Amino acid sequence: MSDLPVTPMIAPSILAADFARLAEEAAAVEGAEWLHVDVMDNHFVPNLTLGLPIVESLLRVTEIPMDCHLMITEPERWAPPYAEAGAYNVTFHAEATANPVAVARDIRAAGAKAGFAIKPGTPLEPYLELLREFDTLLIMSVEPGFGGQKFIPEVLAKVGTARRLVDSGELRILIEIDGGINADTIEQAAEAGVDCFVAGSAVYGAEDPAAAVRSLRAQAAEASPHLRL
Ligand code: DX5
Ligand code: ZN
Repeated sequence: MSDLPVTPMIAPSILAADFARLAEEAAAVEGAEWLHVDVMDNHFVPNLTLGLPIVESLLRVTEIPMDCHLMITEPERWAPPYAEAGAYNVTFHAEATANPVAVARDIRAAGAKAGFAIKPGTPLEPYLELLREFDTLLIMSVEPGFGGQKFIPEVLAKVGTARRLVDSGELRILIEIDGGINADTIEQAAEAGVDCFVAGSAVYGAEDPAAAVRSLRAQAAEASPHLRL
């Protein structure tokens, strides 16, 4: 990405918010770099959340750039409309399509950043070349589908691989991690080289979500060799 961050980014996941009060829940994390929205279709993952109409409504009530994480089949058909609607970053899964580059190009043509997500068990190596077509790499640190799961530290090897390629200039991509990020796990993820940290329950489960965002960001900055506040 051309606008690489100089501080750790925190992307609160509204999966852990109150779906009846989404506008207020977005306002409650003011100061967050991105607002992470988990779209699940009950096909790619065994859970159903929300789709384009709710994202469009949410886009009208918040200024926080929206980070749409599509856990859906057929992203070639369903992903570009999120970009057209005004999402800042649109991420879909490697495991969901045979032609990720075409989907990335459509997302970018529609005016958004394109994100490439991989599940904990999916290797990164086969995809290193095609990451040139993407702006963000989302490394899942839980099985996609539900919030509140336990962090899988083994995925940090993939973060390290991506970090080295970015630091050596071979790749320009923002490294994002998603799943089980909280005060106990964010430092190891930061040390491994993450740029953007998705956090659902750790933010919305806190008494003051905005304060939780600040505290996680400060912890990540402290532990990041590549990012400093
Ligand atoms: C899981 C979602 C995550 C989830 C993270 O499939 O992609 O974004 O909201 O929730 P926590 O932070 O509670 O693990
Ligand atoms: Zn997510």
